Amino acid sequence: MPQPLLSAERLQSRIDELAAAVDRDYAGKNLLVVCVLKGSYIFTADLTRRLTIPHVIDFIAVSSYGDSTTSSGRVKVTQDIQQEVEGCDLLLVEDIVDTGTTIQFLLDILQERGAASIRVITLLKKEGVEEEDLPHIDYVGFTIPPVFVVGYGLDYAEHYRHLPYVGSLPAADELDRGET
Ligand code: IMP
Ligand code: MG
Repeated sequence: MPQPLLSAERLQSRIDELAAAVDRDYAGKNLLVVCVLKGSYIFTADLTRRLTIPHVIDFIAVSSYGDSTTSSGRVKVTQDIQQEVEGCDLLLVEDIVDTGTTIQFLLDILQERGAASIRVITLLKKEGVEEEDLPHIDYVGFTIPPVFVVGYGLDYAEHYRHLPYVGSLPAADELDRGET
C-alpha cells in the first residue's frame, strides 16, 4: 500500500484555507471552475463545496502520462469544456504540477478562447523543477518531494484514486523489479 504522506485531515484543513482564498479573490467575478480530469475530481468537489460565491463548474480531460509513472511529455485534450469561456474568470483546478507541461498546454489553448482571466490552483506541486521553467501557479496546496504519489484522486494505472489521503508509491522501475 502507499506510504501516507498527507493525511485526510491535513488535506481537508488546507482546502478550507484555499477555498477561503478563492472566495475572497473571486467575489463579484464571473467564476468558471474548470476541473482537469481525472486526477482533480475529488479536490474540485471538496473545494467547490466550500465556496460561498456564485460559480459554474465544467470539466476538461487531458491525457499525458499513459499508465507509466514518468511523463511522456505529450498532452492532448480527450474531453473539452462545454461552457462558453469568453468573458469568464477561469480557475483551472489541477491535482498535481510536476514538469508543468500539462498546465502550460491548457493555459495556451484556453487563453485563445477569450477568457477575462485565467488562474491555476493545484493541490500538489512537486519540488525539483526550476520555478522559471514552470508557468505561474496562483494557489498551491502543498509542495511535496519529487516522488510518485497516489490517492485523493491521483492514480497509478487508474488505481488508488479513492484513498482519502495522499501517499507515495515506489518508482516504476522498483515496482518492475518487485522492490517495495
Ligand atoms: P506535468 O505535466 O509534468 O506537470 O504532470 C502533471 C500531470 O501528470 C498531473 O496532472 C497528473 O495527472 C500526472 N502526474 C504527475 N505526477 C504524478 C504523481 O506523482 N502521481 C500521479 N499522477 C501524476
Ligand atoms: Mg492531472
